[in-house]
Amino acid sequence: MSPRKIIIDTDPGQDDAVAILLALASPEDVEVLGITAVAGNVPLPLTEKNARIVCEVAGRPDVKVFAGCDAPLIRPLVTAEHVHGKTGLDGPARPDPTMPLQDQHAVDFIIETLRTQPSDTITLCPLGPLTNIATAFQKAPDIVERVHQIVLMGGGFFEGGNITPSAEFNIYVDPEAAEVVFRSGVSIVMCPLDVTHKALTDRTWIEKMESLGTLAGHMVAGWTDFFERFDVAKYGSTGAPLHDPCVIAYLIDPKLFDGRFINVEIETKSDLTLGMTVADWWRVTDRKPNALFLNSVHRDGLFDLLSERIARL
Ligand code: BDR
Ligand code: CA
Repeated sequence: MSPRKIIIDTDPGQDDAVAILLALASPEDVEVLGITAVAGNVPLPLTEKNARIVCEVAGRPDVKVFAGCDAPLIRPLVTAEHVHGKTGLDGPARPDPTMPLQDQHAVDFIIETLRTQPSDTITLCPLGPLTNIATAFQKAPDIVERVHQIVLMGGGFFEGGNITPSAEFNIYVDPEAAEVVFRSGVSIVMCPLDVTHKALTDRTWIEKMESLGTLAGHMVAGWTDFFERFDVAKYGSTGAPLHDPCVIAYLIDPKLFDGRFINVEIETKSDLTLGMTVADWWRVTDRKPNALFLNSVHRDGLFDLLSERIARL
């Protein structure tokens, strides 16, 4: 089978960084047509810069990186420096990237790609707030039916939220954008906290990454080590959840995951539950299913995959 053509829409973020490395290390499975940065974990000038840092760590300065929306559709930006550090990619220091940022706006790149590539061949992989994707759908409604699938990290239900008691960060930052995407009719696969909180790093794996003796291995070890301290302190867990790599891992080996095709709606009104992904897991409504909601992962299989692929870089 030829590799799936994907666009990674991202707000790096250490876990975004590992996801990008996993994708770039897996050319037989995914062809990365471009990386589109969005404001999220940190403001846009940092996320686009971080995306280029990651490409250079992968030895891939040829990858096209685009800057997109610098704020949610209608709300002020909420960021997560408390998790990811001041730069968004705190951990081992890296020089500023020298590879170029593309001139084209990320939203226009998404639209152009969907219009010029054969219909039903492009998978969108959002790893941050859904602002770029929703903006593209609003600006060019004709592209919606051309999307093959959206595989995203976002939401949570039984696991609750991480930025508020009921909302996960990516959806909370731009709930109106999430609503546009979840109501678009495009086939959606979601990696919510219910699955990503089972994708926990551990010491042995971090040490294994370091012992690869490569730049990529060293950076993955340092990034996840940095990221881990926050989650261990917050949840008392053994390691850090590699949220965003679940999206790419799903594309490579969907058998690692399990879930249910259900209706998911986004709360956009209530102050208390803003950004909640209201998942009809028990199918108690007659609302139409619109998303495959993943809730379990073969944890060791996921980390074996990551180890094997990161070692290639
Ligand atoms: C999501 O929010 C960000 O902090 C992570 O990169 C991930 O995409 C988890 O809630
Ligand atoms: Ca992210």
